[in-house]
Amino acid sequence: MKYFLTFLFVFVVLGAFAQEKLVITHGPYLQHLGENGVTIIWTTNKNAVSWVELAPDDNTHFYLKERPKYFSAEYGFKDVSTLHIIRLSNLTPGTTYRYRVYSQEVLSHQGTKVQYGTVAATNVYSAKPLKFTTVDSAKEKDISFVMVNDIHGRSDLLENLLMKGDHTTADFIFFNGDMVSDMQSEEQLFSGFMDKAVDLFAKEKPMYYARGNHETRGNFANTFPKYFASPSGKLYYLLCRGPVCFVVLDCGEDKPDSDMEYSGIVAFDQYRDAERDWLREAIKSPEFINAPFKVTIVHMPPFGGWHGEDEVWSKFVPLLNEAKIDVMLCGHMHKHMNQQSGNGINFPVLVNSNNAVVRAEATSTLLDLKVISEKGEQVDQIQLKK
Ligand SMILES: [Fe+2]
Repeated sequence: MKYFLTFLFVFVVLGAFAQEKLVITHGPYLQHLGENGVTIIWTTNKNAVSWVELAPDDNTHFYLKERPKYFSAEYGFKDVSTLHIIRLSNLTPGTTYRYRVYSQEVLSHQGTKVQYGTVAATNVYSAKPLKFTTVDSAKEKDISFVMVNDIHGRSDLLENLLMKGDHTTADFIFFNGDMVSDMQSEEQLFSGFMDKAVDLFAKEKPMYYARGNHETRGNFANTFPKYFASPSGKLYYLLCRGPVCFVVLDCGEDKPDSDMEYSGIVAFDQYRDAERDWLREAIKSPEFINAPFKVTIVHMPPFGGWHGEDEVWSKFVPLLNEAKIDVMLCGHMHKHMNQQSGNGINFPVLVNSNNAVVRAEATSTLLDLKVISEKGEQVDQIQLKK
């Protein structure tokens, strides 16, 4: 009897699983939106092949005709995965596109035979199709952005801070590290902050990541970078938009690599050496040199006395001084700090607290940074003029 009940239970559970429909579990969200391309990412509950259908932003119905498909594929093969990452390229600058993401379950692949299951897609029938607009560098004279950091999985606070920073009117958003306290799973990444970001803006507006020292911890830490495409393909990159060129840096861990917390599995000194070598070349690029404002985004500030902070100071600051950085925006300290240039750092360092948001507007002559608390009060303001 016991064996029969166990068999029945397994049968029912397996049966339920087999009948579970394919669904989009998280996303879609935009990454690395440029003049000619954008990356769109989403996840499904089961293995699937995936594509994005793209339509112009005209008055036609999405169902007017078959729209061009962009597949998640590598080496000529469609990817079969629960994580779907599709780069759309050869787009026209300054153009609004409508899109639908689409997945089809792959039940089995044996030899040359593939068996497919159900499909899942974003809604273009009873809801407006999702949209994005490519960048037009020639026309982008002014930009605005919002920066939050040290959310540590408090997604309600993330929503409040984004609202206080008036994110709907900003061009893009920076997540400056420690968005969760560690990276144990995909589920944690989304429940901690990305589901909220998707709800609020990320389907149609891009966000950019500067990794904090907490995203480096946990079994999922190695996988996490796949979920965030950057302009360089690395976790450090240049992002030039309008009058500002951002140097986004990855500070790595805060303690020495040999600390017992890392169990001998990290090599961040070596990583920051390679990042310094990249930075030395990046600041020579014409787009960086010609930008009216040069802003560094990095989670840990170059002070505080811990090893990681000391590395930011010794490996990056000399190059950033040489590059004539206007301001560095940090988090990590969980308190507000506005440190003027001095002590070998030739630019002000704004440390945003874990309960405030930075709202910024930039023209070719003025960079205006406001720090706003979770209650909506202005905590500080920095205005840099050219
Ligand atoms: Fe931190």
